[in-house]
Amino acid sequence: MTMTAQPQSQVTAHEPKVTVHLKIKRYNPEVDTRPHWEEYEVQMSPGDRVLDALHQVKWTIDGTLSFRRSCAHGVCGSDAVVINGQNMLACVNLIRNVGTHLTIEPIRGLPVIKDLVVDMEPFFAQYRSILPYLIAHDDPGYKERLQSPEDRERFDDTTKCILCACCTTSCPVYWANDSYVGPAAIVNAHRFIFDSRDQAAAERLDILNQKSGVWRCRTAFNCTEACPRGISVTKSIEEVKRAILYDRV
Ligand code: SF4
Ligand code: SF4
Ligand code: FES
Repeated sequence: MTMTAQPQSQVTAHEPKVTVHLKIKRYNPEVDTRPHWEEYEVQMSPGDRVLDALHQVKWTIDGTLSFRRSCAHGVCGSDAVVINGQNMLACVNLIRNVGTHLTIEPIRGLPVIKDLVVDMEPFFAQYRSILPYLIAHDDPGYKERLQSPEDRERFDDTTKCILCACCTTSCPVYWANDSYVGPAAIVNAHRFIFDSRDQAAAERLDILNQKSGVWRCRTAFNCTEACPRGISVTKSIEEVKRAILYDRV
């Protein structure tokens, strides 16, 4: 059954509204034995984001719909979902770009808690495993740890990660084997391995040289395509592989 809602006066612009059809995978572990699809129609402006359409459903049709979001501006990384088969942030994709017929599912490879909300803990456990913080054993005293612009540039790309999990949950190797550390953890290891101020590159490379580390990557590029921050994920994985092979960062 398709449920409909009248537009609210909130949201954007003066563009004519369009009817957006949403087909959303629903699952409530308290009442459902398996996931099922529900369909909704909402009136939205083409300049609205998919997140606005989800809010419209929740606020005007079915308050039980569950999804995560916080910043609504592509910064916190909490609203990654699969939209028409592709991992995306619901808050940065406009209706005019994704179309008016949307199939929305939770990201894959992580346990579903309810509807579009997944348990991110396995993802964050992989992230924590690569020591995602600056490790420096010497005491700089009251001086700063200086770094040249060239040295800063080496890991600039991987500083942009917002831990949304779009990459890891689009990786076929991760789907098949969740012990694989995954592209997001490798990106965040890269961010410190190539930081000239850090002194634990060897430790991280040892971790990533294990069975669950970088060698599981088959260079399929799904991760790079999925990254909403435009990070060259596969390139950073290759750089980590080379650092292990040549024992040099
Ligand atoms: S390049 Fe590697 S990490 Fe990225 S999706 Fe492919 S197998 Fe997964
Ligand atoms: S590398 Fe990109 S896709 Fe992966 S977690 Fe970071 S921001 Fe998200
Ligand atoms: S809600 Fe924060 S990135 Fe989308």
